[in-house]
Amino acid sequence: MNTTAINWTEKYRPKNFIDIEGQSQAIFLLKDFLKKFGSENKAVIIHGPPGTGKTSLAYAAANENKAELFELNASDLRNREKLREILRPATEQRSLTKENKIILVDEVDGISETDRGGLLELLALVESSSYPLIITANDIWDRKFTALRKKSELIQLKEIDYKTIKNVLVSLLRKEKKFLDNDVLTNISIKARGDLRAAINDLQIASGMKDPSQIIVDERNKEMDIFSALRMIFKGKPTESMLQIFDSVKMPIDEIMLWVEENIPAEYSGVELAKAIDALSKVDIFKRRIYRQQYWRFLVYENALLSYGISSAKKNVKTGFTSYKKPTRILKIWLNNQKNEKKKSIAIKYAQYSHVGEKRAMAEFSLIKPFLKNSGVQKELKLNEEEVEYLNRVEQSA
Ligand SMILES: Nc1ncnc2c1ncn2[C@@H]1O[C@H](COP(=O)(O)OP(=O)(O)OP(=O)(O)O)[C@@H](O)[C@H]1O
Ligand SMILES: [Mg+2]
Repeated sequence: MNTTAINWTEKYRPKNFIDIEGQSQAIFLLKDFLKKFGSENKAVIIHGPPGTGKTSLAYAAANENKAELFELNASDLRNREKLREILRPATEQRSLTKENKIILVDEVDGISETDRGGLLELLALVESSSYPLIITANDIWDRKFTALRKKSELIQLKEIDYKTIKNVLVSLLRKEKKFLDNDVLTNISIKARGDLRAAINDLQIASGMKDPSQIIVDERNKEMDIFSALRMIFKGKPTESMLQIFDSVKMPIDEIMLWVEENIPAEYSGVELAKAIDALSKVDIFKRRIYRQQYWRFLVYENALLSYGISSAKKNVKTGFTSYKKPTRILKIWLNNQKNEKKKSIAIKYAQYSHVGEKRAMAEFSLIKPFLKNSGVQKELKLNEEEVEYLNRVEQSA
């Protein structure tokens, strides 16, 4: 059952400066930049961690100044025609609804190293523009931004502290007429690590759960749960960092694949669905090669296809809220098979080593298990990582 509803982060996107929490210093600096525009820098770079209000600040600035906001992406920057159109002074335009313009280049770190053209155009734009430019970025300390940094004012956003986040969550719940335990709210706020968007997303998920305390995954290590990973892959743009996304999900890659498979139809349809399924079938091919030929290097491809590959199956970024499903049925079968398969492969190695029959090794598995947990023995038997992991896992569930 998938419930697609409006995303709370969109529903509650700040409209004015007063709606932006925990960034008073940045608001002050941005207002100041706009006030003195023309005398100094023409561009401001708002940079900082995700979900802290960078894009929201740009929208609020336009709103408060009754300015039209023009958003430019990398390909717009290389389209001179379009640029000229946008940059035409207001006085030359016949029908003007708004006199002011603010130009937004959102997520400039998305302009890649290979796309120097776009960056050069942006630099030229910063020099020639008669309108203020707001540029946002997560990280601007890359060398490729050196020239841009020199021509721009910098405003750094901080991670939002958890008390501020919690206050936002409380007032948002009140507006939604929903209720959640205080502990759950505290935990979501801490887990977000300064990312208000993540906190609001978790809040929305938790408020729809039977047992909202389930939303709290271990907040001490920066582990991404599978839901966040799916959200990023299905909703967001494919990025280079997406290639490492599963490194922080504590789950074997095969199990991740089942999750992806289960939830593809919740987000994709038509051509996108076909492309995603295609990527998935390639994953399967690599997987078989990996197991058959013990060719572990192929894991990289499997990983990339499952993250970047699935993500790029879509044409546009997706909005809206999707509640992802756990792949219950197949997962159970798979886990069972997996369990037996590991048990079998370990038993075979043991049988060969100690010259007993495989059948007997299987039958006496519970007896030899304590012995197999010894890491020296594991080395001697040349158990692979997954087999060792299996032995440890058995211990936990026993
Ligand atoms: N400082 C804030 N005050 C109020 N709401 C915020 C704030 N920061 C983020 N949010 C919430 O999170 C959503 C996303 O925020 P926004 O798009 O401004 O983040 P961002 O800093 O641009 O993130 P990214 O780096 O991922 O682009 C907003 O719609 C809003 O719901
Ligand atoms: Mg943004």
